Amino acid sequence: MPKKEKASDFRYDTGEARIPWAAVGEHVREEDILALVTFLLRPARGKEKQYRAQLKKLESELGTLGKTATPAGKLSLAGNVKALEEETAKFLGAKHSVFLTNATVGFEIGFKYAGLKPGDEVIAPAITFIATIAYPLSIGAKVVLADVDPRTLNMDPNDVERKITDKTKAIIPVHLGGYPVDMAPIMRLARKHNLTVIEDAAHAFGATYRGKMAGTIGHFGAFSFHEVKNITSLGEGGILVSNTAFGKELRRARFLGLDLSRQIPNWLYDVPAFKGKEGHFFTGNYSTTEIQALGLLSQMKRLPRIIAKRKRAAQYLNKRFGKVDGIVLPPGDDAKIKSTHHLYLLQVDPDNAGGDIQALKKKLEARGVVQIPHFAPLYKFSVMKQLGYDTRAIEKTCPVAEEAFQHRFTHLPLYDFSKEQLAYLADAVVESVSEMKRGT
Ligand SMILES: Cc1ncc(COP(=O)(O)O)c(C=O)c1O
Repeated sequence: MPKKEKASDFRYDTGEARIPWAAVGEHVREEDILALVTFLLRPARGKEKQYRAQLKKLESELGTLGKTATPAGKLSLAGNVKALEEETAKFLGAKHSVFLTNATVGFEIGFKYAGLKPGDEVIAPAITFIATIAYPLSIGAKVVLADVDPRTLNMDPNDVERKITDKTKAIIPVHLGGYPVDMAPIMRLARKHNLTVIEDAAHAFGATYRGKMAGTIGHFGAFSFHEVKNITSLGEGGILVSNTAFGKELRRARFLGLDLSRQIPNWLYDVPAFKGKEGHFFTGNYSTTEIQALGLLSQMKRLPRIIAKRKRAAQYLNKRFGKVDGIVLPPGDDAKIKSTHHLYLLQVDPDNAGGDIQALKKKLEARGVVQIPHFAPLYKFSVMKQLGYDTRAIEKTCPVAEEAFQHRFTHLPLYDFSKEQLAYLADAVVESVSEMKRGT
């Protein structure tokens, strides 16, 4: 029998009826919408009175609108989630795209597909967010940290090669700050050693590497739409794509394996396990809401403008810092590689800058410039030691990461700056470095 196209979540989606199943859930009403509006749009300082007046007007208009409206009904995994998945698949040039709660669970699905078990090894870069290695740590797989490239701070493919063993199952490159990892050698190593590559593209939605979108080069790629990313699905969210035949199972993997195109006797669906590289596995519930999807669909329309503005800001900083001896410029876009400019990688050469990054960070903080180096090397965190890793020994195998973290790098924000903010930021860095050189 041919498979029927059906929603991946049966709840409330039972179609037209005199007594619809949707009746088991409470609907969203006008007051809920007003609560959302007042949360998302706060009164501006000095404009509280006008704000309250506008709000009263909106309240009355929502009441009127409500009289002509019928509730949305389906709030989770419905038309907007599907539309977002189609839109992101098209944008990324990926066959399958699934919207789930965050990027971290996206990596988890990739690791499960790879058949990762306790004792297996995963190679991750030394400098990344703990989310990159959360699943391997949580099941007792062994995380092996690769050192980073001193210019990009991305995973160094040469060190990955040195660290591959018979137990290696997967590599998880991270496109730090939105600048793509050199994926060609990583993919060559993966083919040679039959490894699964899961791209941590949390920062890289819209970056390109040799004509392909970052996140679509490995076997899996997951993007984050947490509130601090270039665009957000209203706080949390992730997109997972896969180039494997498993891609067509992604939707089911996002929601507890339910298969509504097959039924067991007297019930609505079946729940088959998933077939991974090394046998069957199962997943969890990483479902997302229609409102999150709507938020991201709306922000996606602005993405080209957002990235272009960030790029202009980065180019301005490069122009200002290019004249300063001791500042090492980040790699820029070229014909083959385009960053999302999520973060500005500021590096110094301590021998020529009159001091190291720690001295510069203090001076920037004193000038009110917030910078957050993304990230501390993973071997610094207690969890690794507590799980039995010899973190001292790992540090010795990642000398570039250690030196960069202690002495060379921080990240500057690159968001929707005003001209004045951007000039202030550049002045603050230039003046701080000159003070360091003068020893003041
Ligand atoms: C490099 C990196 N990887 C993974 C993640 C995790 O993304 P999410 O919060 O969507 O799980 C983040 C989020 O900040 C990140 O910065």
